[in-house]
Amino acid sequence: MKKDFISIKDLNKTDLETLFSLAERLKKLRLKHKRLLDNKVFALIFEKPSLRTRVTFETGIYELGGNSIYLSQKDIGIGSRETVKDIAQNLSKWISGIIARVFTHQTLVDLAIYASIPVINALSDLEHPCQALADLFTIKEKFNKFDGLKFAYIGDGNNVCHSLMLGAKIVGLNMWVASPKGYEPMNDYIKLSSAKIVNDPIEAVNNANVVYTDVWVSMGQEEERKQRLKVFKNFQVNFKLLKHAKPNCLIMHCLPAHRGEEITSEVIDSQNSIVIDQAANRLHIQKALLIKLFAPSNIKSKQLTI
Ligand code: CP
Ligand code: NVA
Repeated sequence: MKKDFISIKDLNKTDLETLFSLAERLKKLRLKHKRLLDNKVFALIFEKPSLRTRVTFETGIYELGGNSIYLSQKDIGIGSRETVKDIAQNLSKWISGIIARVFTHQTLVDLAIYASIPVINALSDLEHPCQALADLFTIKEKFNKFDGLKFAYIGDGNNVCHSLMLGAKIVGLNMWVASPKGYEPMNDYIKLSSAKIVNDPIEAVNNANVVYTDVWVSMGQEEERKQRLKVFKNFQVNFKLLKHAKPNCLIMHCLPAHRGEEITSEVIDSQNSIVIDQAANRLHIQKALLIKLFAPSNIKSKQLTI
């Protein structure tokens, strides 16, 4: 049966451990394993802009010997020029996998239902699972453990936050989320996670080993911008807030950042900021994911066999 990656829920602890182990190896071996996706073509369907996700998927596929075709909403018009079902069924006849960034999570679910090839979530309104994989891998690289760490997410209970909440539960990372009232993560995700949800950023950041934030206005929410900037103003990650964290607390952000809004330039450019490591790791963890979904016979006991 084909496997999709729509949500972190699609993976268990062993899957995550396998991905971390493969990503670590791929990072060391950069460019050496070229042929694992030989003869495989992937469609990258993007309804929204992207730097990191698009470039890391295209580069990762290239480095593994496959090919990618980028399709913007202007090119294929999902749901307007053609139905999701028709697009999924057509693509399934030609290529090996679909990687899609969509406005509505249901579009991904429908793509997965109608495609006979795997579908990967490259961000939806509800989740950003590839980002969470890279983030957890980065935390593991820095601390070599998840146990005993306090991980504080400050700001909007959004797609990135949801995926981190699901991932944190699987790996056993103690996650705290501080959001303004009414902007907390969705209940469905709260129920599935063990994250502590509060409305006070200081409470979440207190003694934290890692502080994470994301934009206050996600793609698709531009009309709410004015209101959101008001609501979130006390949730900025700045040095005053970080006084409450552990002295060497690491700073994370999925990027793109709105400097001066959810995070100050001083903080994002500080020596404890690992935002570029996170971005770098998108490439390695997604290569690991592609191998797991499309070339699993090359993995044995969580390791690459070649
Ligand atoms: N973090 C992330 O997904 O970046 P892009 O929107 O640039 O892909
Ligand atoms: N929450 C942000 C993440 C961007 C990578 C958004 O959805 O726009």
